[in-house]
Amino acid sequence: MSCNTRRSCLALAMIDEPDLVFETIPADPCALLGRWLEHAAQHAQQPNPNVLYLATADSQGRPSVRPVLQKYYDDQTGCLTFFTNYHSRKAREMEANPHVCAGIHWDHLERAVRIDGRVERATVEVSDKYFASRSRESQLGAWASEQSEELADWETLLGRVFDVSARFAGGPVPRPSHWGGYVLTPRSIEFWVGRKSRIHERVLYEKNHDAWVNKRLYP
Ligand SMILES: Cc1cc2nc3c(=O)[nH]c(=O)nc-3n(C[C@H](O)[C@H](O)[C@H](O)COP(=O)(O)O)c2cc1C
Repeated sequence: MSCNTRRSCLALAMIDEPDLVFETIPADPCALLGRWLEHAAQHAQQPNPNVLYLATADSQGRPSVRPVLQKYYDDQTGCLTFFTNYHSRKAREMEANPHVCAGIHWDHLERAVRIDGRVERATVEVSDKYFASRSRESQLGAWASEQSEELADWETLLGRVFDVSARFAGGPVPRPSHWGGYVLTPRSIEFWVGRKSRIHERVLYEKNHDAWVNKRLYP
């Protein structure tokens, strides 16, 4: 099929994909992201469909990025919550500069999302609740690991795991105060949909005061 009329171009763009996702762009990106996250949890065919690639920047503006797991999502506000060590490199950077950017990619679904916004610490209650839901190994790991610090040798870490296991033997493992959540409040959310025709779609939502405005971007 050649792309020499408007109708044939549209048909080409939608080959094998009759449901043009953004024919009508939804007004609310938070609800849309919620639907995408739910869909990915069921259909992404990847071990961690909730992975966020979180980019932070140091005080010189030098970026760094790493995967973290998004654990809670609020589809009213678009806020995403992830958990980490408050002494880690990412946490030090976020405490100094709360502006972050996060990427999500679901390869099989040909979907990607980019979110930028500000982070703040989750409440103690949220961090306690999530920590209590983790496996005991993960809880002990949070005590044993000085995340992002130099580790002299592997035995040192195993020794620390052994020590904390002994310390909390026979009882619950409390949340260490240096471990907890961050809540990312989005300022912009961009949705990308890949198409077999290679005529991909992008829609960018930006917050203007309290309202979301959107526009399409060239792919
Ligand atoms: C799939 C995956 C999920 C991860 N999830 C988390 C997470 O939720 N929290 C976390 O602190 N680190 C997580 N990590 C480890 C981080 O990517 C990173 O190595 C660690 O947080 C230290 O990063 P930093 O030194 O930049 O602070 C994950 C790694 C992978 C591969």
